[in-house]
Amino acid sequence: MRTYNNYAREPAVCDGAKHEFRKDAARSHVAFGGRCTQGEHAHRMGSERRLLELDSAAGSGAVHWLPADPEVREYFEKTVEYWDQIYTGSGFINWHLAHRRHLVIDAVRRLSNGRPLRVLDLGCGSGVLTRDLMRMGHSVVALDCSENMVRTLIHSVDGNLRPRLLGAEVGSAADVCLRTEAFDIVICVGVIQYQRHPELVFREMCRLLRPGGACIFTIPNQLTLHHVLDPWCSARYIYRLLVHQRRKGESLLRCFRSALDRAAYSDDIYERRYFKRDIPGLVNVPSLLVKETIGFGYGPVTVGNKAVFPVRFSIALSKALVKLSHLKPLSWLSTFANRWVIVLEKSS
Ligand SMILES: C[S@@+](CC[C@H](N)C(=O)[O-])C[C@H]1O[C@@H](n2cnc3c(N)ncnc32)[C@H](O)[C@@H]1O
Repeated sequence: MRTYNNYAREPAVCDGAKHEFRKDAARSHVAFGGRCTQGEHAHRMGSERRLLELDSAAGSGAVHWLPADPEVREYFEKTVEYWDQIYTGSGFINWHLAHRRHLVIDAVRRLSNGRPLRVLDLGCGSGVLTRDLMRMGHSVVALDCSENMVRTLIHSVDGNLRPRLLGAEVGSAADVCLRTEAFDIVICVGVIQYQRHPELVFREMCRLLRPGGACIFTIPNQLTLHHVLDPWCSARYIYRLLVHQRRKGESLLRCFRSALDRAAYSDDIYERRYFKRDIPGLVNVPSLLVKETIGFGYGPVTVGNKAVFPVRFSIALSKALVKLSHLKPLSWLSTFANRWVIVLEKSS
C-alpha cells in the first residue's frame, strides 16, 4: 500500500479525484525519469501544475518534478526501525530526541490552545509525532518520501486514532499534492538538514499553511558544546574551512567570513548543521516570520568523539544548562545548544 487517505471527510484538505489525478501524474513523471519538457509536463499536469524551474542553466524550457533526494530516501527506507525506536533507547541521543519531540508537541499545544486543528506532518517518518498529534485531537496528514516509513505509520495507527488520520502519503516535502492553505500547522521535524534545496520546502510549507498558521521545524546547530570543546571536532572544523578556502581560492579571512555565511561546511547531507544567524536566510520566505527559537540539549562533552562522562551525568548536565539558558542573562547559552525548535508564523 503506497498511501492511505480519508480525505472524503475533509475535502478542504484535498479533493479525492484531483488528488488521484495528480498522484498519477507524479508517478508517470517519476517513471519518465524525473524530468521532461515543459510541454509534456503541462500535458501531464493539466491546469493543476506547478512548475518549479530549478535549473535555469538547463534552459530550453526544461522543468523538474521535485522528488526527494534518492540518496536520502534510500537511507531512510533502510533505517525505519532505528528511527522508529529512537525516542525510547537509553542513550544520550535517545533522551535528546525525546526532548525534541516533547518541545514540538508542546509548541503545538500552545498554538492550538485546546482547539482541534488540521496539521501536516512533513517528513513524518514512522509516525511517532503523527500519533502524538492525533492523540491530542488534531486531524493529521502525514507525508514522507520513504514508502517503508509510511507503511509502518499506517500499520501503527489503531482503530481509535484512524478517523483523525486524514491521509498518509509517499511524496516529496518540496512538492506536495495537497491544497493551498489547507493546514493550521505544519511540522517538519528532523527533515530540513537532509534537503539540498531547503528553500523549496519552506516555500511549500508556506503555500500549504493558512494565513496566521504556524510552521514548526527543527535543525541541528553547528556550534554545539560538543563541537567547540572537542579538539578533534575543532580540528576537523578548521580542516573543512581550509578545504573550502582552497576550493574557492579565497584569502583565509574572506573564506572564514563566507564560510560563516554558508548554512554548513560539510557537503555531506548527514552532517549538515546551521548557525543561529543562518535561520532567517534559511527560511527565506518573506511571509514566514520567526516567532520563537528554542535551543535544547547540551553535550555530551567528548574528546576524540568519545563521551567523557557517563550518560546519566551528561543528561543531568544538559538539563542544568537548559534551565540556566532560560534565565535572561544566560540566554546566550542557547547559541551552543545541540538543536533548535523554530516556530514560524505565516503573516495574515
Ligand atoms: C530523522 S527522520 C524524522 C521523522 C519524524 N519527523 C520524527 O521526528 O520522528 C526524517 C524523515 O524525513 C523524511 N524526509 C527527508 N527528506 C524528505 C523529503 N524531501 N520529502 C519527504 N520526506 C523526507 C525521511 O524519509 C525521514 O523519514
